[in-house]
Amino acid sequence: MTKENIKWWQKAVVYQIYPRSFQDSNNDGIGDLKGVEQHLDYVKKLGADVIWLNPVYNSPNKDNGYDISDYQSINPEFGDMAQFDHLLAEAHERGLKIVMDLVVNHSSDQHKWFIESRSSKDNDKRDFYIWRDPVDGHEPNNWGSFFSGPAWKFDEKTGQYYLHLFAEGQPDLNWANPKMRETIWNMMNWWVDKGIDGFRMDVISLISKPDGLPDGKVPKGDIYGNSNRAVANGPHVHEYLQEMRNKVLNNADMMTVGEASGVDIENAKEYASNDGKELNMVFQFEHVELDGNPDPALGKWYDQRVSLPKLKENLSKWQYELDGKAWNSLYWNNHDQPRAVSRYGSDKPEFRVVSAKMVGTLLHFMQGTPYIYQGEEIGMTNAYNLGWDDFNDIEILNAREYLVNKDHLIDDDTLLRYVHYKGRDNARTPMQWTAGKNAGFTDGTPWLKMNDNFGEINVEEALADKDSVFYYYQKLIQLRHELPIITTGHYQLLDPEDEEVYTYKRIGDDEELLVINNFTESEQSRDYGVPANAEILISNYPDDQGTTLRPFEAKVYRYKN
Ligand code: NOJ
Repeated sequence: MTKENIKWWQKAVVYQIYPRSFQDSNNDGIGDLKGVEQHLDYVKKLGADVIWLNPVYNSPNKDNGYDISDYQSINPEFGDMAQFDHLLAEAHERGLKIVMDLVVNHSSDQHKWFIESRSSKDNDKRDFYIWRDPVDGHEPNNWGSFFSGPAWKFDEKTGQYYLHLFAEGQPDLNWANPKMRETIWNMMNWWVDKGIDGFRMDVISLISKPDGLPDGKVPKGDIYGNSNRAVANGPHVHEYLQEMRNKVLNNADMMTVGEASGVDIENAKEYASNDGKELNMVFQFEHVELDGNPDPALGKWYDQRVSLPKLKENLSKWQYELDGKAWNSLYWNNHDQPRAVSRYGSDKPEFRVVSAKMVGTLLHFMQGTPYIYQGEEIGMTNAYNLGWDDFNDIEILNAREYLVNKDHLIDDDTLLRYVHYKGRDNARTPMQWTAGKNAGFTDGTPWLKMNDNFGEINVEEALADKDSVFYYYQKLIQLRHELPIITTGHYQLLDPEDEEVYTYKRIGDDEELLVINNFTESEQSRDYGVPANAEILISNYPDDQGTTLRPFEAKVYRYKN
């Protein structure tokens, strides 16, 4: 790639908004579209180019909007279609693009297609979903739901099981059915015609199920990871995505990112190849799965950090392997992952700001399109004040039901510790705007308890402090926009075994960047032979002390090579 042929989405920075938790404009305790609109100038001030909106469609909210009952509607909790159109126009007015969440591996069980499908075996829509007879009175295979328990639900009415890789209320659509696919293309084109700027595609790596739906070959007791290994990257997934490209995506200049659990480098090269036949990029999961529990039965639930060499090895592999062949997405957190500063930096008060800037530096100088999750730009932390009575997330609640109560694999206190480290509600507590009532999120009762640290950590405070995480992120974004090497430069890892400091280079035709990140609370000493003519591009300390790296120090040198 040269600086002449960079595509707009390769230079863009995406800001992810989880509307339910962003800003409530009518005091019902739930964030909404008007609330998003109120803060477009804030996103613009940060400098992001694109907003990714989590699902805003009609939904019974079994999985907070990822169970859609009408793809061409707006959930009244969030507003209505006129408000959406207004938001889109206001965003475009400011030069901001909007990418919508596309959730088509499954629908809600309240979608009219599923209501029809389950009504009788010979209904028109029966084959829009995946139905199977019981085998010896049991589930048709051993697949587990991502949210614990089996992935099949028996339906009395017609005496068959339906597949749900996620919650029971999220039946999987049958992508092998060309009529079903045609219906999806029509729906997508309807959104494209509205002028949206792209799609983030939910679990798109799971849409093609393996022929014959065979049992997954998994270690005994591995409930959580079962379906991923058995289902991801099915035999027709690339065919379906190429069809989608031809029928929908080529109709406009859009950005596409596929959420792709179970996808490795080789798969990613197909999904996100530079040849443009399928998607622009994928969200791969490898780096956020490195700190899973060594016991496969406990899946993601754990509270130990990944070692730095392991993290480097993984992130570097993606940087090296996709360069020139496919495109990376770059993310630390989102609505499904805990807060970046708590997981990779330190949320101790004395280190929070400096380490939030450090983790931002590490990510934003890599090759790929960076994603910032709401609140990351002010260093919001995990929510340790939430207890069992406060959690809302189905993944957390089901983990308790199965791992603690049914399967007795773990006790309540241990799971709570793991949830405080890994649970999705850490990221879903409402956005912290001010130090006032409910952090300025709502005058009503917030749908999910607030993180109790909003008195110190909030947007108002960040905007008033020129050394805040916010202004540092603003600068990271600005540098990406200004310096093509951040988009095009080749990556090179230094000192892979170093357990404290993560250092890499970006190598351009006539210049280099040296990105140095101290991952520890203590001072480190490292000599990288920085050339005398090097200038500091950005740093989270006010001065440069050469080979001495202070706690969580991050700095980037730029020099001619
Ligand atoms: C991934 C989404 O990001 C997550 O929030 C959701 O629970 C699952 N897919 C199922 O749709």
